[in-house]
Amino acid sequence: MPTPPVDSRESGILDRARSLFYQHALVKLDQRHIGAVAAINPKDIKDKAAGAFHEDLNYGEVFIRDNVPVMIFLLLEKEFQIVRDFLNVCWSLQSNQFQTMGIFPASFTEKAGALVADYGQRAIGRVVSVDATLWVPIIAHAYVQASGDVAWARQPVIQFGIQRFLDLILHPRFRDAPTIHVPDGAFMIDRPLDVWGSPLEIQVLLYGSLCSAAGLIKQDLCHGKQGHFMGAFRDKQKQQFMFAVAWAKRLRRYLLKHYWVNTKTVQVLRQRPTEEYGEGAANEYNIQTESIPHWLQEWLGEEGGYLLGNIRTGRPDFRFFTLGNCLGAIFDVISPRQQQALFHLIWHNQAHLVAQMPLRICHPPLEGSDWQSRTGYDRKNRPWCYHNSGHWPCLTWFLAAAMLRHQQLYPSLSQDTWENCQSLLYSSYKTLLKRLPQQRWAEYFDGPTGLWTGQQARYYQTWTIVGLLLLQHLLKVEQSAAHILNIPRLSELSQPF
Ligand code: GLC
Repeated sequence: MPTPPVDSRESGILDRARSLFYQHALVKLDQRHIGAVAAINPKDIKDKAAGAFHEDLNYGEVFIRDNVPVMIFLLLEKEFQIVRDFLNVCWSLQSNQFQTMGIFPASFTEKAGALVADYGQRAIGRVVSVDATLWVPIIAHAYVQASGDVAWARQPVIQFGIQRFLDLILHPRFRDAPTIHVPDGAFMIDRPLDVWGSPLEIQVLLYGSLCSAAGLIKQDLCHGKQGHFMGAFRDKQKQQFMFAVAWAKRLRRYLLKHYWVNTKTVQVLRQRPTEEYGEGAANEYNIQTESIPHWLQEWLGEEGGYLLGNIRTGRPDFRFFTLGNCLGAIFDVISPRQQQALFHLIWHNQAHLVAQMPLRICHPPLEGSDWQSRTGYDRKNRPWCYHNSGHWPCLTWFLAAAMLRHQQLYPSLSQDTWENCQSLLYSSYKTLLKRLPQQRWAEYFDGPTGLWTGQQARYYQTWTIVGLLLLQHLLKVEQSAAHILNIPRLSELSQPF
């Protein structure tokens, strides 16, 4: 891929982004970094015109999900100590309470010299911390992979934490499906948007976290006699490893069967019988043809495919969710051919998904009475706003990672598709470079094309700033960095050790 030279305007913007991040977003406690705040207070950088920072809101806290791009960026910068400190903080905040044992907080902050965590007990609407919990083992695995610090993963305290995490996932429940069932707002979309049940992002993260946790246990088990543990703990590690791998295999099969759609599968869905009873049912979730929306025809075209938003009894969700789909490609939940179909779909629908600000978070928006009843009149999530089809620049680097990784691993991608991917990524980069500094590194953008700064957006949002730096790194500095989020493959985990 050609790497156009960096002009002085571009390097000025990148320098500004780096200094905002390193000097104002990263937080320290007792001389150690603990992560980055969600948004920089404009007061701290003397930007009076940006308005007051709402001290009562929690943007001054360290959110685990917002720190995913932060930690990935720091790994690429070889700032391993900061990532290790952040992970140690996460481990120290893993819940020990009976009802939430094993979860990691959505966010935390420093008060009077101590860390105070929010597991959902303070969050608006009391939304739960599921994606943060699933992200932690994935970041931990990425850290060990990038730094080679296997000794960190083998510490008793870390292996105990992984065990507590797996206790939380691998336990009996009411449903037989390998997906996990969550209330509304359990991930990046942390407000009501009818994303309860088995939303895609959570299931794909579950897959990534099971493989990552198994990979981290394997690091310890592989070292045989030198292991720190004997007896019952070692037996439990082996058992959890086996269960996690078996669960991940089942989950992937399930997602491919129930979530993957293209023009062929939709036509099969439309012909299925309903009201079937028994194990041989073709339409297991008793989905009526009428729930398959007509916009899907144009959206999929002949060659497109994607993982749909949710599978629930009688109520599938055909909306397209950008992050869940990008992660589905990055974690190889979908096959190389399916990844190609996904990239084709994104290219085909770029007027919607990219428009004037990459990338739209989900498509299409809930409107009218659907918006009223399914969000509970959530004013922040009005149609074309915020999570309800708003545009989030922080998502673009995930797409770049998915596309570049695919091209490097499976160069089978047709030349046309690859040229389309490149042109989409480069033009997105140009848009971000032009608009983010103008619009004060806003958190999100509103309207059908994403032209307007989000009505309630924070300025100087950390993952917007770091997202641009990551995109620049992937496109112009080190394309092989697209492998940074590689998780252990099921085939590797299934080999004897
Ligand atoms: C908003 C976003 C959420 C993010 C938080 C902090 O609540 O919806 O995904 O983690 O802000 O930036």
